[in-house]
Amino acid sequence: MIHPPPRKPSTTSHYKSTSELNPWLVEEDNFPASGETSEQLEFLLNYAVLDPSIYNTQPWFFKIIDDAIELYADTRVSATANDNYRESIICCGTALFDLRIAIRHFGYRDIVEVFPESHNPNLLARISFGSKRIVQLEEKFLFRAISKRSTAQFYLANRKLPKSLISELESVTDSECTRLQILTSIVADSSVREVIKLVDKGDRLQTRDPFRRKLFQWINSSHEDVPMASSVGTLMLIGSQNDNEYAWLATGEALAHLWLRARIDDVRVSCLNQPIQVPELRSRLQALFPDNGYPQILLRLCYLTN
Ligand SMILES: Cc1cc2nc3c(=O)[nH]c(=O)nc-3n(C[C@H](O)[C@H](O)[C@H](O)COP(=O)(O)O)c2cc1C
Repeated sequence: MIHPPPRKPSTTSHYKSTSELNPWLVEEDNFPASGETSEQLEFLLNYAVLDPSIYNTQPWFFKIIDDAIELYADTRVSATANDNYRESIICCGTALFDLRIAIRHFGYRDIVEVFPESHNPNLLARISFGSKRIVQLEEKFLFRAISKRSTAQFYLANRKLPKSLISELESVTDSECTRLQILTSIVADSSVREVIKLVDKGDRLQTRDPFRRKLFQWINSSHEDVPMASSVGTLMLIGSQNDNEYAWLATGEALAHLWLRARIDDVRVSCLNQPIQVPELRSRLQALFPDNGYPQILLRLCYLTN
């Protein structure tokens, strides 16, 4: 399925973007540097609402309380989608990462407590400004990529990613907040056919995606074994050692980091998560990549055609 891109602020959020017509046009110069902390935090939410989310549901909401942002999973959304408390928490993890990058970009340490209240599992994180610090160049780039990011579905170029970039992308995925190691592996050419079959099966079990249907037909056509990995971009699987809320939140952070880092080098990302949403297919994917823990997100990374 191809989900519609968000071009509007979250309707489930308590927050409304200051850029009513197009939230992607948020201007960093509008950061209220001399304003109240709560105003500054509110401004940062402009960036958090730009994150990718399953079915574009934006399953998060935010509260600003006592100079901190509280990030909640919006369970009304996860109750209506298929898999999808797990994926909702992953989406919230992407918002968490972007908030942290935004805080750093504006020259502060980010202070994050994850799952701060054991009796309140929907409160995923409390985020606030720490002391002043010098912003790193990498953080500036990641920050600027937030408003340029989108899901890429079409006009994908048949060009491989350089190995150096792949290794860098593989290494950006450890969560600093949960201290969890998130596992990433590139799907080798030899496994791509199998993985795409699982994607297609997931599609068939759920909904119809003309693009992937075409891709699947092409892969199974009588063409000689063309290098599929390059034709569909590079496939990457993000997994985790555990399969719980902590791991899902960390996966979301890892996903956002990877997505933004890729965007800096003009590499586009899309999610092929259908097989992970179907328990039987998820187990088969896990069996294909036994060292990669529980599969959480399957991605395609590619350049666009000019
Ligand atoms: C956890 C997660 C799972 C996703 N799974 C899929 C998927 O299975 N298929 C798909 O086409 N897009 C998937 N997406 C991408 C969303 O559809 C996309 O982020 C959303 O439509 C917003 O568009 P944007 O990324 O261009 O802002 C997923 C995104 C996230 C964060």
